[in-house]
Amino acid sequence: MIKANISRARKFLTDQEYIHAHSLATKGLDDLRHRTGPGSAWLGWRDLLEKPDSDLVAQLNQLGKKIHDSVDVFIVCGIGGSYLGAKAVIDALKPPFTPNGPEILFAGYHMSGAYLKDLLQYLKMPKADGSKKSIVLNVISKSGSTLETALSFRVLRKFIHEEFEDAVERIICTTSERGGVLNEVIDKEGYQKFIIPSDVGGRFSVLTPVGLLPIAVAGISIEELFEGAVSNYKILEENADVVVEYAALRNALHSKGITIDIFTSFEPELLSFGRWIQQLLGESEGKDGKGIFPTVAGFSTDLHSLGQFIQDGTRSLFETFLVVDQVGAQLSVPSSLDFGDGLDYLEGDFFHSINSKAESGTIEAHCEGQVPIVTIHLSELNAKSVGALIYFYQIFTGVFVYSLGINPFNQPGVEDYKKAMYRLLGK
Ligand code: PA5
Repeated sequence: MIKANISRARKFLTDQEYIHAHSLATKGLDDLRHRTGPGSAWLGWRDLLEKPDSDLVAQLNQLGKKIHDSVDVFIVCGIGGSYLGAKAVIDALKPPFTPNGPEILFAGYHMSGAYLKDLLQYLKMPKADGSKKSIVLNVISKSGSTLETALSFRVLRKFIHEEFEDAVERIICTTSERGGVLNEVIDKEGYQKFIIPSDVGGRFSVLTPVGLLPIAVAGISIEELFEGAVSNYKILEENADVVVEYAALRNALHSKGITIDIFTSFEPELLSFGRWIQQLLGESEGKDGKGIFPTVAGFSTDLHSLGQFIQDGTRSLFETFLVVDQVGAQLSVPSSLDFGDGLDYLEGDFFHSINSKAESGTIEAHCEGQVPIVTIHLSELNAKSVGALIYFYQIFTGVFVYSLGINPFNQPGVEDYKKAMYRLLGK
Protein backbone atom coordinates (compact mmCIF):
# COMPACT_ATOMS: atom_id res chain seq x y z
CA MET A 1 0.00 0.00 0.00
CA ILE A 2 2.80 2.40 0.95
CA LYS A 3 6.08 1.90 -0.87
CA ALA A 4 9.48 3.31 -0.03
CA ASN A 5 12.38 3.68 -2.43
CA ILE A 6 15.60 3.92 -0.43
CA SER A 7 18.00 3.03 -3.26
CA ARG A 8 19.11 6.60 -3.95
CA ALA A 9 20.17 7.06 -0.32
CA ARG A 10 21.50 3.53 0.19
CA LYS A 11 24.46 4.27 -2.09
CA PHE A 12 25.83 6.73 0.48
CA LEU A 13 26.43 3.78 2.83
CA THR A 14 28.84 0.87 2.84
CA ASP A 15 27.37 -2.62 3.18
CA GLN A 16 28.86 -2.87 6.64
CA GLU A 17 27.24 0.39 7.80
CA TYR A 18 23.87 -0.64 6.44
CA ILE A 19 24.01 -4.19 7.81
CA HIS A 20 24.87 -2.92 11.29
CA ALA A 21 21.98 -0.41 11.22
CA HIS A 22 19.69 -3.11 9.84
CA SER A 23 20.33 -5.30 12.88
CA LEU A 24 19.49 -2.34 15.18
CA ALA A 25 16.25 -1.68 13.28
CA THR A 26 15.31 -5.37 13.37
CA LYS A 27 15.74 -5.29 17.14
CA GLY A 28 13.68 -2.06 17.24
CA LEU A 29 10.83 -3.85 15.46
CA ASP A 30 11.09 -6.83 17.84
CA ASP A 31 10.99 -4.52 20.85
CA LEU A 32 7.92 -2.80 19.49
CA ARG A 33 6.09 -6.01 18.67
CA HIS A 34 6.99 -7.80 21.90
CA ARG A 35 6.64 -4.73 24.11
CA THR A 36 10.16 -5.11 25.40
CA GLY A 37 11.41 -1.59 24.66
CA PRO A 38 11.27 1.47 26.93
CA GLY A 39 7.87 3.18 27.09
CA SER A 40 6.02 0.02 26.08
CA ALA A 41 3.04 1.10 28.18
CA TRP A 42 2.36 3.62 25.37
CA LEU A 43 1.64 1.23 22.54
CA GLY A 44 -2.14 1.69 22.59
CA TRP A 45 -2.01 3.18 19.05
CA ARG A 46 -1.20 -0.34 17.82
CA ASP A 47 -3.98 -1.95 19.87
CA LEU A 48 -6.50 0.47 18.31
CA LEU A 49 -5.80 -1.19 14.97
CA GLU A 50 -5.38 -4.72 16.28
CA LYS A 51 -8.88 -4.59 17.81
CA PRO A 52 -10.72 -1.75 16.08
CA ASP A 53 -13.63 -0.23 17.99
CA SER A 54 -16.05 0.08 15.09
CA ASP A 55 -18.84 1.31 17.39
CA LEU A 56 -16.75 4.31 18.39
CA VAL A 57 -15.83 5.06 14.77
CA ALA A 58 -19.54 4.83 13.81
CA GLN A 59 -20.53 7.10 16.72
CA LEU A 60 -17.92 9.70 15.73
CA ASN A 61 -18.97 9.40 12.11
CA GLN A 62 -22.60 10.03 12.99
CA LEU A 63 -21.83 13.03 15.18
CA GLY A 64 -19.36 14.36 12.61
CA LYS A 65 -21.99 14.10 9.88
CA LYS A 66 -24.60 15.85 12.05
CA ILE A 67 -22.22 18.75 12.71
CA HIS A 68 -21.10 18.74 9.05
CA ASP A 69 -24.70 19.15 7.89
CA SER A 70 -25.86 21.73 10.42
CA VAL A 71 -23.04 24.03 11.51
CA ASP A 72 -21.26 26.99 9.88
CA VAL A 73 -18.03 27.00 11.87
CA PHE A 74 -16.30 24.17 13.72
CA ILE A 75 -13.38 25.21 15.92
CA VAL A 76 -10.66 22.75 16.86
CA CYS A 77 -8.90 24.02 19.98
CA GLY A 78 -5.70 22.07 20.65
CA ILE A 79 -1.91 22.03 20.21
CA GLY A 80 0.75 19.52 19.13
CA GLY A 81 -0.65 16.03 18.85
CA SER A 82 -4.07 17.41 19.72
CA TYR A 83 -4.50 19.19 16.37
CA LEU A 84 -1.71 18.37 13.91
CA GLY A 85 -3.16 14.99 12.87
CA ALA A 86 -6.62 16.38 12.13
CA LYS A 87 -5.11 19.29 10.22
CA ALA A 88 -2.84 16.96 8.23
CA VAL A 89 -5.73 14.76 7.09
CA ILE A 90 -8.15 17.62 6.43
CA ASP A 91 -5.61 19.57 4.39
CA ALA A 92 -4.70 16.41 2.46
CA LEU A 93 -8.25 15.44 1.58
CA LYS A 94 -10.64 18.40 1.75
CA PRO A 95 -10.59 20.41 -1.49
CA PRO A 96 -9.61 23.96 -0.57
CA PHE A 97 -12.18 25.91 -2.62
CA THR A 98 -15.16 23.55 -2.75
CA PRO A 99 -17.74 24.47 -0.12
CA ASN A 100 -18.43 21.29 1.83
CA GLY A 101 -19.66 21.48 5.40
CA PRO A 102 -18.56 23.94 8.05
CA GLU A 103 -15.52 26.10 7.91
CA ILE A 104 -12.91 24.38 10.10
CA LEU A 105 -10.87 26.82 12.16
CA PHE A 106 -8.01 26.08 14.54
CA ALA A 107 -7.22 27.75 17.84
CA GLY A 108 -5.36 26.88 21.02
CA TYR A 109 -2.06 26.19 19.26
CA HIS A 110 -0.42 29.50 20.22
CA MET A 111 -1.02 32.42 22.57
CA SER A 112 -1.62 35.30 20.19
CA GLY A 113 -4.25 37.61 21.64
CA ALA A 114 -4.49 39.38 18.28
CA TYR A 115 -5.50 36.12 16.61
CA LEU A 116 -8.13 35.33 19.22
CA LYS A 117 -9.55 38.85 19.13
CA ASP A 118 -9.84 38.68 15.37
CA LEU A 119 -11.33 35.19 15.56
CA LEU A 120 -14.03 36.40 17.98
CA GLN A 121 -14.85 39.30 15.69
CA TYR A 122 -15.14 36.91 12.76
CA LEU A 123 -17.35 34.51 14.70
CA LYS A 124 -19.68 37.37 15.65
CA MET A 125 -19.95 38.58 12.05
CA PRO A 126 -23.32 37.55 10.60
CA LYS A 127 -23.61 35.40 7.49
CA ALA A 128 -24.36 36.88 4.07
CA ASP A 129 -28.11 36.49 4.72
CA GLY A 130 -27.78 38.42 8.01
CA SER A 131 -28.33 35.41 10.25
CA LYS A 132 -26.02 34.35 13.05
CA LYS A 133 -23.29 31.77 12.46
CA SER A 134 -23.91 28.39 14.06
CA ILE A 135 -20.71 27.38 15.86
CA VAL A 136 -19.42 24.24 17.57
CA LEU A 137 -16.22 24.16 19.61
CA ASN A 138 -14.13 21.01 20.11
CA VAL A 139 -11.46 21.43 22.78
CA ILE A 140 -8.83 18.70 22.67
CA SER A 141 -6.25 18.22 25.40
CA LYS A 142 -5.04 14.95 26.84
CA SER A 143 -3.61 16.55 29.97
CA GLY A 144 -6.47 19.02 30.13
CA SER A 145 -4.09 21.71 31.33
CA THR A 146 -1.90 22.81 28.40
CA LEU A 147 -1.67 26.59 28.68
CA GLU A 148 -2.08 27.51 24.99
CA THR A 149 -5.21 25.39 24.66
CA ALA A 150 -6.64 26.21 28.09
CA LEU A 151 -6.32 29.98 27.55
CA SER A 152 -7.99 29.84 24.16
CA PHE A 153 -10.68 27.55 25.54
CA ARG A 154 -11.40 30.04 28.31
CA VAL A 155 -11.98 32.79 25.73
CA LEU A 156 -13.95 30.67 23.23
CA ARG A 157 -16.04 28.91 25.86
CA LYS A 158 -17.07 32.25 27.34
CA PHE A 159 -18.00 33.46 23.87
CA ILE A 160 -20.13 30.36 23.14
CA HIS A 161 -21.94 30.69 26.48
CA GLU A 162 -22.61 34.38 25.87
CA GLU A 163 -23.83 33.88 22.32
CA PHE A 164 -25.84 30.65 22.44
CA GLU A 165 -28.58 29.47 24.78
CA ASP A 166 -27.74 25.86 23.92
CA ALA A 167 -24.02 26.45 24.65
CA VAL A 168 -23.66 23.14 26.46
CA GLU A 169 -24.56 21.26 23.26
CA ARG A 170 -22.05 23.32 21.29
CA ILE A 171 -18.96 22.41 23.30
CA ILE A 172 -17.38 18.99 22.85
CA CYS A 173 -14.37 17.99 24.93
CA THR A 174 -11.79 15.35 24.03
CA THR A 175 -9.52 14.48 26.93
CA SER A 176 -8.27 11.73 29.25
CA GLU A 177 -10.78 9.57 31.07
CA ARG A 178 -10.05 11.27 34.36
CA GLY A 179 -7.81 13.92 35.93
CA GLY A 180 -6.90 17.37 34.63
CA VAL A 181 -8.77 20.65 35.03
CA LEU A 182 -10.73 20.05 31.84
CA ASN A 183 -12.44 17.04 33.41
CA GLU A 184 -13.56 19.22 36.32
CA VAL A 185 -15.12 21.69 33.88
CA ILE A 186 -16.81 18.85 31.96
CA ASP A 187 -18.26 17.40 35.17
CA LYS A 188 -19.55 20.80 36.24
CA GLU A 189 -21.04 21.87 32.90
CA GLY A 190 -22.10 18.53 31.42
CA TYR A 191 -20.33 18.96 28.07
CA GLN A 192 -20.17 15.97 25.75
CA LYS A 193 -16.87 14.16 26.22
CA PHE A 194 -14.71 11.78 24.20
CA ILE A 195 -11.88 9.88 25.79
CA ILE A 196 -8.25 9.75 24.68
CA PRO A 197 -6.97 6.31 25.71
CA SER A 198 -4.39 6.57 28.48
CA ASP A 199 -1.90 4.38 26.58
CA VAL A 200 -1.90 6.56 23.44
CA GLY A 201 0.41 9.58 23.53
CA GLY A 202 -0.71 12.89 22.00
CA ARG A 203 1.34 12.63 18.81
CA PHE A 204 0.11 9.07 18.21
CA SER A 205 -3.56 9.96 18.78
CA VAL A 206 -4.88 10.97 15.35
CA LEU A 207 -6.86 7.72 15.00
CA THR A 208 -8.69 8.32 18.31
CA PRO A 209 -11.49 10.91 18.78
CA VAL A 210 -8.70 13.53 18.83
CA GLY A 211 -8.39 13.38 15.05
CA LEU A 212 -11.42 11.37 14.00
CA LEU A 213 -14.13 13.81 15.10
CA PRO A 214 -12.73 16.91 13.34
CA ILE A 215 -11.92 14.80 10.27
CA ALA A 216 -15.49 13.45 10.15
CA VAL A 217 -16.86 16.99 10.55
CA ALA A 218 -14.80 17.96 7.50
CA GLY A 219 -16.80 15.43 5.47
CA ILE A 220 -13.96 12.92 5.11
CA SER A 221 -14.78 9.23 5.57
CA ILE A 222 -13.20 8.23 8.88
CA GLU A 223 -14.33 4.67 8.19
CA GLU A 224 -12.12 4.55 5.10
CA LEU A 225 -9.29 6.36 6.88
CA PHE A 226 -9.41 3.83 9.70
CA GLU A 227 -9.73 0.92 7.29
CA GLY A 228 -6.61 2.12 5.45
CA ALA A 229 -4.69 2.20 8.73
CA VAL A 230 -5.97 -1.24 9.78
CA SER A 231 -5.06 -2.83 6.43
CA ASN A 232 -1.58 -1.38 6.58
CA TYR A 233 -1.25 -2.59 10.16
CA LYS A 234 -2.08 -6.11 8.97
CA ILE A 235 0.26 -5.88 5.98
CA LEU A 236 3.14 -4.69 8.17
CA GLU A 237 2.48 -7.32 10.86
CA GLU A 238 3.00 -9.91 8.10
CA ASN A 239 6.09 -8.27 6.70
CA ALA A 240 7.65 -5.03 7.89
CA ASP A 241 10.79 -5.15 5.72
CA VAL A 242 9.97 -1.77 4.20
CA VAL A 243 9.92 -0.17 7.67
CA VAL A 244 13.06 -1.93 8.88
CA GLU A 245 15.02 -1.04 5.74
CA TYR A 246 13.94 2.60 5.87
CA ALA A 247 14.74 2.81 9.60
CA ALA A 248 18.14 1.15 9.03
CA LEU A 249 18.95 3.60 6.29
CA ARG A 250 17.97 6.64 8.37
CA ASN A 251 19.90 5.36 11.36
CA ALA A 252 23.06 4.69 9.31
CA LEU A 253 22.84 8.12 7.68
CA HIS A 254 22.49 9.65 11.15
CA SER A 255 25.67 7.84 12.24
CA LYS A 256 27.44 9.32 9.21
CA GLY A 257 26.63 12.90 10.23
CA ILE A 258 23.25 13.54 8.60
CA THR A 259 21.46 15.86 11.01
CA ILE A 260 18.49 17.22 9.05
CA ASP A 261 15.67 15.38 7.29
CA ILE A 262 13.53 17.57 5.04
CA PHE A 263 10.06 16.12 4.51
CA THR A 264 8.77 17.42 1.25
CA SER A 265 6.19 16.89 -1.44
CA PHE A 266 5.29 18.38 -4.78
CA GLU A 267 1.63 18.08 -3.71
CA PRO A 268 0.75 21.15 -1.59
CA GLU A 269 -2.07 19.17 0.09
CA LEU A 270 0.61 17.14 1.89
CA LEU A 271 2.43 20.06 3.50
CA SER A 272 0.44 19.70 6.74
CA PHE A 273 1.04 15.96 6.67
CA GLY A 274 4.74 16.80 6.69
CA ARG A 275 4.18 18.90 9.80
CA TRP A 276 2.42 15.99 11.48
CA ILE A 277 5.41 13.74 10.67
CA GLN A 278 7.72 16.50 11.90
CA GLN A 279 6.09 16.43 15.33
CA LEU A 280 5.74 12.65 15.43
CA LEU A 281 9.42 12.10 14.72
CA GLY A 282 10.80 15.25 16.32
CA GLU A 283 9.29 14.74 19.76
CA SER A 284 10.05 11.03 19.61
CA GLU A 285 13.66 10.97 18.42
CA GLY A 286 15.17 14.23 19.66
CA LYS A 287 16.53 13.06 23.01
CA ASP A 288 19.78 12.20 24.77
CA GLY A 289 21.74 14.34 22.28
CA LYS A 290 20.52 12.16 19.40
CA GLY A 291 18.12 12.36 16.48
CA ILE A 292 17.81 13.84 13.01
CA PHE A 293 16.06 17.22 13.02
CA PRO A 294 12.87 16.78 10.97
CA THR A 295 11.74 19.76 8.99
CA VAL A 296 9.24 20.45 6.22
CA ALA A 297 9.42 22.12 2.83
CA GLY A 298 6.78 22.39 0.12
CA PHE A 299 8.05 21.96 -3.44
CA SER A 300 8.30 23.49 -5.91
CA THR A 301 7.48 26.55 -3.75
CA ASP A 302 10.47 26.19 -1.43
CA LEU A 303 12.89 25.42 -4.23
CA HIS A 304 12.71 29.17 -4.60
CA SER A 305 13.81 29.69 -1.00
CA LEU A 306 15.68 26.60 0.19
CA GLY A 307 16.64 25.08 -3.16
CA GLN A 308 20.04 26.76 -3.25
CA PHE A 309 20.98 25.49 0.20
CA ILE A 310 19.74 21.98 -0.46
CA GLN A 311 21.68 21.79 -3.72
CA ASP A 312 24.88 23.37 -2.58
CA GLY A 313 25.06 24.24 1.14
CA THR A 314 26.40 22.29 4.14
CA ARG A 315 26.17 18.57 3.31
CA SER A 316 24.29 17.34 6.37
CA LEU A 317 20.87 17.03 4.74
CA PHE A 318 18.65 14.17 3.85
CA GLU A 319 15.34 14.50 1.94
CA THR A 320 12.16 12.47 2.16
CA PHE A 321 9.73 13.00 -0.70
CA LEU A 322 6.06 12.10 -0.22
CA VAL A 323 5.02 11.14 -3.73
CA VAL A 324 1.48 10.63 -5.02
CA ASP A 325 1.76 8.34 -8.03
CA GLN A 326 -1.66 9.02 -9.54
CA VAL A 327 -3.43 12.31 -8.98
CA GLY A 328 -7.15 12.84 -9.46
CA ALA A 329 -8.57 15.93 -11.14
CA GLN A 330 -6.48 16.68 -14.18
CA LEU A 331 -5.98 20.08 -15.70
CA SER A 332 -4.10 20.66 -18.92
CA VAL A 333 -2.29 23.75 -20.14
CA PRO A 334 -4.71 25.75 -22.31
CA SER A 335 -3.90 27.35 -25.63
CA SER A 336 -2.49 30.79 -25.11
CA LEU A 337 -4.13 34.15 -25.69
CA ASP A 338 -2.15 36.10 -28.26
CA PHE A 339 0.52 37.58 -25.99
CA GLY A 340 3.18 34.93 -26.51
CA ASP A 341 4.17 33.84 -23.00
CA GLY A 342 6.71 31.35 -24.35
CA LEU A 343 4.83 28.35 -22.93
CA ASP A 344 3.40 26.89 -26.14
CA TYR A 345 5.74 23.89 -25.83
CA LEU A 346 3.63 22.85 -22.81
CA GLU A 347 0.24 23.35 -24.44
CA GLY A 348 -2.03 20.36 -23.82
CA ASP A 349 0.27 18.85 -21.18
CA PHE A 350 -1.31 17.89 -17.88
CA PHE A 351 -0.18 19.89 -14.86
CA HIS A 352 0.47 16.63 -13.03
CA SER A 353 2.87 15.53 -15.72
CA ILE A 354 4.68 18.90 -15.55
CA ASN A 355 4.77 18.66 -11.74
CA SER A 356 6.11 15.09 -11.92
CA LYS A 357 8.88 16.13 -14.27
CA ALA A 358 9.77 18.97 -11.91
CA GLU A 359 9.89 16.38 -9.12
CA SER A 360 12.07 13.96 -11.09
CA GLY A 361 14.35 16.81 -12.15
CA THR A 362 14.68 18.00 -8.55
CA ILE A 363 15.47 14.50 -7.31
CA GLU A 364 18.07 14.08 -10.04
CA ALA A 365 19.71 17.44 -9.26
CA HIS A 366 19.70 16.94 -5.48
CA CYS A 367 21.19 13.45 -5.88
CA GLU A 368 23.97 15.01 -7.94
CA GLY A 369 24.36 17.53 -5.12
CA GLN A 370 25.09 14.56 -2.80
CA VAL A 371 21.80 14.69 -0.90
CA PRO A 372 20.55 11.22 0.12
CA ILE A 373 16.89 10.92 -0.92
CA VAL A 374 14.10 8.56 0.05
CA THR A 375 10.79 8.57 -1.79
CA ILE A 376 7.64 7.36 -0.03
CA HIS A 377 4.87 6.48 -2.48
CA LEU A 378 1.10 6.58 -2.13
CA SER A 379 -0.61 5.14 -5.17
CA GLU A 380 -3.27 7.86 -4.90
CA LEU A 381 -4.45 10.42 -2.39
CA ASN A 382 -7.62 9.25 -0.64
CA ALA A 383 -8.85 8.46 2.87
CA LYS A 384 -7.56 4.87 2.74
CA SER A 385 -4.07 5.75 1.52
CA VAL A 386 -3.77 8.56 4.07
CA GLY A 387 -4.85 6.13 6.83
CA ALA A 388 -2.18 3.72 5.62
CA LEU A 389 0.44 6.48 5.59
CA ILE A 390 -0.48 7.48 9.15
CA TYR A 391 0.19 3.99 10.47
CA PHE A 392 3.30 3.66 8.30
CA TYR A 393 4.87 6.70 9.98
CA GLN A 394 3.69 5.66 13.44
CA ILE A 395 5.36 2.26 13.25
CA PHE A 396 8.36 3.75 11.47
CA THR A 397 8.79 6.23 14.32
CA GLY A 398 8.64 3.44 16.93
CA VAL A 399 11.11 1.20 15.08
CA PHE A 400 13.54 3.95 14.11
CA VAL A 401 13.65 5.57 17.54
CA TYR A 402 14.08 2.19 19.26
CA SER A 403 16.96 1.55 16.86
CA LEU A 404 18.65 4.66 18.29
CA GLY A 405 18.28 3.19 21.79
CA ILE A 406 15.78 5.87 22.87
CA ASN A 407 12.28 5.78 24.38
CA PRO A 408 10.09 7.17 21.55
CA PHE A 409 7.05 7.77 23.73
CA ASN A 410 8.07 10.41 26.27
CA GLN A 411 8.98 14.07 25.85
CA PRO A 412 10.90 15.15 28.96
CA GLY A 413 12.46 18.14 27.19
CA VAL A 414 9.10 19.80 26.56
CA GLU A 415 8.67 20.31 30.30
CA ASP A 416 11.70 22.61 30.52
CA TYR A 417 10.19 25.51 28.58
CA LYS A 418 6.95 25.08 30.53
CA LYS A 419 8.76 25.32 33.87
CA ALA A 420 10.56 28.50 32.81
CA MET A 421 7.37 30.01 31.34
CA TYR A 422 5.26 29.26 34.43
CA ARG A 423 7.94 30.74 36.67
CA LEU A 424 7.93 33.96 34.62
CA LEU A 425 4.13 34.02 34.64
CA GLY A 426 4.14 33.68 38.42
CA LYS A 427 2.18 30.43 38.59
O1 PA5 B 1 2.68 14.38 21.68
C1 PA5 B 1 2.43 14.98 22.70
O2 PA5 B 1 2.26 14.42 23.79
C2 PA5 B 1 2.31 16.50 22.71
O3 PA5 B 1 2.62 17.06 21.50
C3 PA5 B 1 0.90 16.90 23.08
O4 PA5 B 1 0.00 16.43 22.11
C4 PA5 B 1 0.77 18.41 23.19
O5 PA5 B 1 1.74 18.91 24.08
C5 PA5 B 1 -0.63 18.80 23.70
O6 PA5 B 1 -0.87 18.22 24.94
P1 PA5 B 1 -2.32 18.09 25.52
O7 PA5 B 1 -3.13 17.24 24.59
O8 PA5 B 1 -2.14 17.44 26.86
O9 PA5 B 1 -2.90 19.47 25.63
